[in-house]
Amino acid sequence: MVSELSINRKQECPNIKDIKERLEINYLSKPNLVNSSDDGQDIIQGLTQPQKTLPARYFYDAKGSQLFEKICELPEYYPTRTEADILEQYATEIANTTAPCDLVELGSGSSTKTRLLLDAYQNSRYPTHYIPIDVSGSILEASAEQLLQDYESLKIRGQVGTYQQALNNLPPSILSRRMVFFLGSSLGNFTPQECDRFFAQIAKVLNPGDYFLLGIDLQKPVDILEAAYNDAQGITAAFNLNMLSHLNWRFGSNFNLELFKHQAIYNISKHQIEMHLHCQENHAIDFKNLDLTVDFKLGTSIRTEISRKFNLEHMQQYLTTMGLKHIKSWSDQKKWFGIVLCQV
Ligand code: AVJ
Repeated sequence: MVSELSINRKQECPNIKDIKERLEINYLSKPNLVNSSDDGQDIIQGLTQPQKTLPARYFYDAKGSQLFEKICELPEYYPTRTEADILEQYATEIANTTAPCDLVELGSGSSTKTRLLLDAYQNSRYPTHYIPIDVSGSILEASAEQLLQDYESLKIRGQVGTYQQALNNLPPSILSRRMVFFLGSSLGNFTPQECDRFFAQIAKVLNPGDYFLLGIDLQKPVDILEAAYNDAQGITAAFNLNMLSHLNWRFGSNFNLELFKHQAIYNISKHQIEMHLHCQENHAIDFKNLDLTVDFKLGTSIRTEISRKFNLEHMQQYLTTMGLKHIKSWSDQKKWFGIVLCQV
């Protein structure tokens, strides 16, 4: 036991030095300004509308991120698994199509699915430069160090900041081309107008010849969709309600989680899951840090998320009109999830 430990330690020392040399992390928002986007104006805005809304990004405090990881493993929640299956099958083809390029990931999180792409680029003997972008510095640093331990020749240049900040400050390409990728159907949280702006920005910051790889959840029968967002174990309900505890500590509110009920319904005409928290009793909530009081009535709902479901052919055409020319798409047998490769 003791000798095993000391062997490990001996091996670790040069390793750690080597890892530091292959890692660079940039904070795009100055640490003490990180909270400037957390001034709560978006909360006030959302909670004073007739249909109350809260921005989906408030799901992801430490607890919420953990709950999301658990959601990804639920039997009903097919997107993560399905996307990983597609990548597993086609990552090599993606790598062969793009040839060597810098891999820029928006919303890298735990970088789990990224490994499937890294494997493919490395197996093709391409040099691998990975630029993860995430708002959470802690998750970015932890997953970057883990990746550097597992991939010997990988170089990482992480960017901590919002998509906007990161896209406006993309480091110059090391290899001749870049591929920006945005997986997990996070695009589903964007309204159509937000999608327009997002794609326009991607097309603007990339150079001609650069690639964009997008993972999207596809339209499918309502019962499958609603089950995925109303799981039997209640993890999605806990994830939804956790947003209220997040607001409690961040903005000094006094939400009682027992006075709200989770519901996810599919809006068929808008092709989107809508997650709500329904108030069960008349009461008022004070936000100490925002100088805000909000009245809640029995039956008032807060919409915490939209998760849009797309049509693969429409997306291909839409991306092409936005200057991101469709090259090739991949899907699973059931056509539940799609991965689209485009080129500027
Ligand atoms: C991370 C936005 C892709 O919309 O499916 C999972 C978040 N919400 N269960 C999604 C989520 C409820 C997820 N995205």
